[in-house]
Amino acid sequence: MKGIFWSRLLLTAALCWGSGAGLALAAPPEAGPEGAVVHGSANAITVNGDAIFNHVSRLAASSRVAGTQNEYNAVQYIKGELEKYGYTVNLQSFTFPKFTAPSSIQLTIEGTHGLASQQLAPQALQNTQGGDVSGEVVDAKKGTPQDVKGLELKGKIALIEAGQIDTNAKIANVADQGAVAVILYNPSSDTPILDTQFSTLSLPTVSLSGKDAQALKQKTAANGGPRVRLSVQGVAAMAATSYNVVATLRPNTTTTTSDLVTVGAHHDSVSAGPGANDDASGVGIVLEVARAVAGTQRDSEVRFLTFGAEEYGLYGSQAYANSLSSTDIGRFIGHFQLDMVGSKNSGTLGMYTVNGQKNVVTDLGATFASRLSGVIPYGRFGRSDHVPFYQRGVATALYTHSPAEPEYHTRYDTIDKISKDKLANVATIVGNSVVEILSPTTPTFKRYKDFFTPVNYPYDPNPPV
Ligand code: BES
Ligand code: ZN
Repeated sequence: MKGIFWSRLLLTAALCWGSGAGLALAAPPEAGPEGAVVHGSANAITVNGDAIFNHVSRLAASSRVAGTQNEYNAVQYIKGELEKYGYTVNLQSFTFPKFTAPSSIQLTIEGTHGLASQQLAPQALQNTQGGDVSGEVVDAKKGTPQDVKGLELKGKIALIEAGQIDTNAKIANVADQGAVAVILYNPSSDTPILDTQFSTLSLPTVSLSGKDAQALKQKTAANGGPRVRLSVQGVAAMAATSYNVVATLRPNTTTTTSDLVTVGAHHDSVSAGPGANDDASGVGIVLEVARAVAGTQRDSEVRFLTFGAEEYGLYGSQAYANSLSSTDIGRFIGHFQLDMVGSKNSGTLGMYTVNGQKNVVTDLGATFASRLSGVIPYGRFGRSDHVPFYQRGVATALYTHSPAEPEYHTRYDTIDKISKDKLANVATIVGNSVVEILSPTTPTFKRYKDFFTPVNYPYDPNPPV
């Protein structure tokens, strides 16, 4: 069995491309100066686009909101598949504050001198507090400590411009001065701010369009600025339980290194739709790469991970990254994150790091991509599960297509938008990058530049969204 597998691998020198057939890397050119890999191709893997598509299809049969039975069913499916490939699989449970968006929000400028009151069109920020408050609106500029110093905010509603410092910090600053609610705005935006907030905001917080906010700000200039009433109803933040799936594969050679590499995707989705691309696509690739890697020779350890509660604020990857010992952190070569990697309606593949700099994860990806389907760019983008790894000092990049598809976070993110070719292409690039690290013919990857020359690849200044 193993013999057949190996001989098939060695024979797949030609590039075969297509959804049904396996996808193999082209044989590397004779060791050239660029993209030269000393040994890797002998251990190259072939992935099956149909298998990935079938995983995505199974997972995208329903939404997988963190903390629900649907998410748990997805976790069991992933665990079961990994066990079929011979993995030891652990579930890591964690709790997170599950935010329920308000059922109603009203922001009213109260009428004075017999004038009618005026309704505005606010949006609630994720993780806002609920409440029903009224008070005078005060312009708190950008809400920095200098901006709010000496401002009389007790019982008042702070109007704050976005930018410069973190939203949570702005809110904390005005709350310290006694403000009871916050209206946030971006002066140059036609629509209210819809940013996702990582952690619970300390006050009821809504956003307005730049235009509405500027009009309100004008009124604050007058003596005894306008009074508004803000009602944010139906907000809830209940502790919920979610899970990460952790599948570990130890070295199978006699001489081993202490190197560790991880590959991850999030298995939860938003409630709006089934999240076929976000991020069943990433999970499908994690599963297929795990299957293929289990048949290789490895002198280092690999872990395949799927994370819960990403959509509520990266909670699963945060829990996983925080649970790593400093010894394990020291063993890391890198973490490959897959998020939104198969839509027909998205752009081209790129690798995004938190600080916008290249690292071993992008060097490998660009090199394998250049042999398969052409060089791919790197850029700067957070907003997925690579962030907590970065925060612990691990070299990491998010693989995704840019620009993102219009179906992102809608009910239209369904299986019919998924491209087998895109899935197979990303899986081949990431899978063979991982295999290169694990290969017994590459020494420890800590000093990879001694024996691996990455190709040149460009910077993409545009984020995917
Ligand atoms: N998959 C998205 C992030 C993303 C968007 C990747 C576009 C590639 C292209 C992810 O699931 C998400 O929605 N993240 C949140 C942030 C998170 C901290 C809650 C977001 O972007 O709003
Ligand atoms: Zn996602």
